[in-house]
Amino acid sequence: MTVDHAPEGVKSPTGCPVSGMAAGFDPFQGAYQVDPSSSLRDARKEEPVFYSPLLDYWVVTRYEDIKQIFKTPSVFSPSITLDQITPISDEALQILGSYQFAPGPTIVNEDEPIHTERRRLLLQPFEAENVATLEPKIREVVNTYLDRVIKDGRADLIGDLLYEVPCIVALIFLGVPDEDIETCRHFGMQQTLFTWGHPTGDEQTRVATGMGKFWEFAGGLVDKLKADPNTKGWIPHAIEMQRQHPDLFDDNYLQNIMMSGVVAAHETTTNATGNAFRTLLENRSSWEEICADPTLIPKAIEECLRYSGSVVAWRRKAVVDTTVGGVDIPAGGRLLIVMASANRDDSMFPEPDDFDIHRGNARRHLTFGIGSHTCLGATLARLEMKVFLEEVSRRLPHMSLVAGQEFSYLPNTSFRGPEHVLVEWDPQQNPVPADRP
Ligand code: HEM
Repeated sequence: MTVDHAPEGVKSPTGCPVSGMAAGFDPFQGAYQVDPSSSLRDARKEEPVFYSPLLDYWVVTRYEDIKQIFKTPSVFSPSITLDQITPISDEALQILGSYQFAPGPTIVNEDEPIHTERRRLLLQPFEAENVATLEPKIREVVNTYLDRVIKDGRADLIGDLLYEVPCIVALIFLGVPDEDIETCRHFGMQQTLFTWGHPTGDEQTRVATGMGKFWEFAGGLVDKLKADPNTKGWIPHAIEMQRQHPDLFDDNYLQNIMMSGVVAAHETTTNATGNAFRTLLENRSSWEEICADPTLIPKAIEECLRYSGSVVAWRRKAVVDTTVGGVDIPAGGRLLIVMASANRDDSMFPEPDDFDIHRGNARRHLTFGIGSHTCLGATLARLEMKVFLEEVSRRLPHMSLVAGQEFSYLPNTSFRGPEHVLVEWDPQQNPVPADRP
């Protein structure tokens, strides 16, 4: 192994010298932003677990190590999952205080055993047969949005389709009343930057204000849903669970799952679908294959989630002294586990940089996590992606990426999806006659 050391002799908390590669690791810009998995290719081979002085996190890059971390919550706690990765300023803290912002436990950052107890009670709306009932509505909304651009011959897939539709679906799933959908959808995007990004002074105050307002709004929504026993969705279900198990769910918990639920369900899916369209259109033969045979779409989705997933890294904290990949991690050590890197680990995926919709084990990607906290919304996310790909490939099979466009990403460690995907097509060639000008 050839590991060069950082010039100033920087050391990790366990006293080990930090390599130049580790000292230079910056997930908020450069190579990681362009392509996190490729940016860690050398690390996977030469220094698969390294300490990042910039983050004060250990960065974990290999499949087996990451899987083991996910599957051992008694050693690797999810408690820091929603902490701000960039410490926030006093001014931003004051702003949050003025909104009584009180982030408490919410399913994704809870330790066992209470996590499993609550998860079991909150599970029902996520079950496959319940999620399947949403399919006609999702298809209708996707087609309504497609109708708006189908005769234009160009679109920004994100701005015109993929940002809005998963937001609407998320809010329906959560049980947000129609009249609040418009307000609610403005709030979600604050949280990515706040939690996983690197906001600067001015951005911190702006984002803190947004988070404070979102928090207030989430509380108001829970009160509103409590007052109406006829509402349906995940939050009304949680309210019913609170009624049956008041010892397990307090109001703060409901407000937290209302707020984090929007982020969990919306941008993850927008980004995953944006990545999928970009990847498939860049691999034209795969796009043409799914257009010709839509039954290939579910397999293609798994390969897209592996090759270019939307949650590229997640976090855990060691609760005892332990080792990962032979590297000592002290109790309290924080870990950035990069699933995008695991998904390109050749010990699990042969020829990992090849995009292959027929790959036999693509579904073993770690984009949804694995183990007790594995994504509850995976069935819904997969359904949404399937409907998007089915409808767009049916109505716009001749669509292609606008040549020469550069893809940009919101700088952050964890949520990855292009801000725009510009596409074009000849509307005269639209295969559905009603779609032609
Ligand atoms: C492609 C889209 C999505 C991706 C990539 C994704 C990814 C993830 C990841 C990585 C976790 C954390 C796993 C862990 O800590 O072990 C998670 C948890 C979770 N996700 Fe998703 N997610 C997606 C869509 C959704 C949707 C649509 C919903 C809701 C409808 C949702 C709801 C949740 C919930 C409630 C949890 C917490 C589960 C727990 O801690 O027990 N997700 N997701």
